[in-house]
Amino acid sequence: MPRDAVLAFAFVQKSPRASYATAARASGHRSTGQQWLFDGARLTSRSDETGIMDEQQRKATLKQTFDAVSSGYDGGALRFFPQSARSMVSLLDLRGDEHALDVACGTGHASLAVARMLPNGRVTGVDFSAGMLDQARRKAAAQGIGNIDFLERDMTALGFPADSFDVALCAFGIFFVDDLDTQLAHLASVVKPRGKVMISSFQEAHYFHPLREMMLARLRTHAIAIPPPNWKRVGHEGACRALFDRAGLTNTRVETRNVGYYLDCAERWWDVIWNAGFRRLISLLPEDARERFKRDHLKEIEALVTKDGIWLDVGVLYTVGTKPA
Ligand SMILES: C[S@@+](CC[C@H](N)C(=O)[O-])C[C@H]1O[C@@H](n2cnc3c(N)ncnc32)[C@H](O)[C@@H]1O
Repeated sequence: MPRDAVLAFAFVQKSPRASYATAARASGHRSTGQQWLFDGARLTSRSDETGIMDEQQRKATLKQTFDAVSSGYDGGALRFFPQSARSMVSLLDLRGDEHALDVACGTGHASLAVARMLPNGRVTGVDFSAGMLDQARRKAAAQGIGNIDFLERDMTALGFPADSFDVALCAFGIFFVDDLDTQLAHLASVVKPRGKVMISSFQEAHYFHPLREMMLARLRTHAIAIPPPNWKRVGHEGACRALFDRAGLTNTRVETRNVGYYLDCAERWWDVIWNAGFRRLISLLPEDARERFKRDHLKEIEALVTKDGIWLDVGVLYTVGTKPA
């Protein structure tokens, strides 16, 4: 790793307040071919090449998962995503002429919701899954929304000049990266001074409770190793606030909303599992075990049916901060 890149990273890590320009320069390094730079920060701490391979493989698996789920992602069982995007936008107080960035935009729920609020502005949506972006572009065209561009990019190396956007969003995406501090600094680096940065994340006590815990417990009986719960790092107000403070963002506000609803039947819970990131876990089961797993799991979920259906609990934290002038 070139010495200036190592120093740039040390600076990003140690001095978040002064890190915006540095993080942007770092992404510039990547765009000139030194692709390992952002991951390189982690490589130095892991101090072997396996760190990079693990990271690249993990990203490749994530991409594959989101490509695979993209066609079912906008199905009704996952309607909390667009619902949450609308909540997010309502908390942003947009003027209408901003240039907004939506990072890890997926099929464009937040991008499209923001674009509708910007008669004189634009949205740039970024994701690394070509499948998710195809859906986003298709919806924008179908809805006649023209003030929007979708780009295939890794959020750890955005490649935009510093101070490009008035506002940057990341809905249910930031927890996919290892290093939250570096990622938030990177996001803030491409926002103009006095611009806003906003993330949404699942609230620990209300993240598909208790359906998710039941699914994980049953997966463990099949000897599936459950990866560490990365989303929990931003699963409560204190963690979100501390993350924004460390990035040097100011006027931080954390709002909580529950965007849950009743599912008609247990099969709809399977739609939630199968059309989002959980598919990766289920895919670890051999095919015959998968059928058995589904049958047994849905039977236990069926026991939760009330006269209204099965409650899908979705507590969401919206954290917004301002980049200092
Ligand atoms: C749970 S989805 C959320 C999508 C969208 N923001 C929403 O609210 O519906 C997470 C998205 O993050 C994307 N993602 C994960 N890691 C990424 C990375 N390193 N760079 C770009 N996109 C990434 C995935 O492809 C996926 O579309």
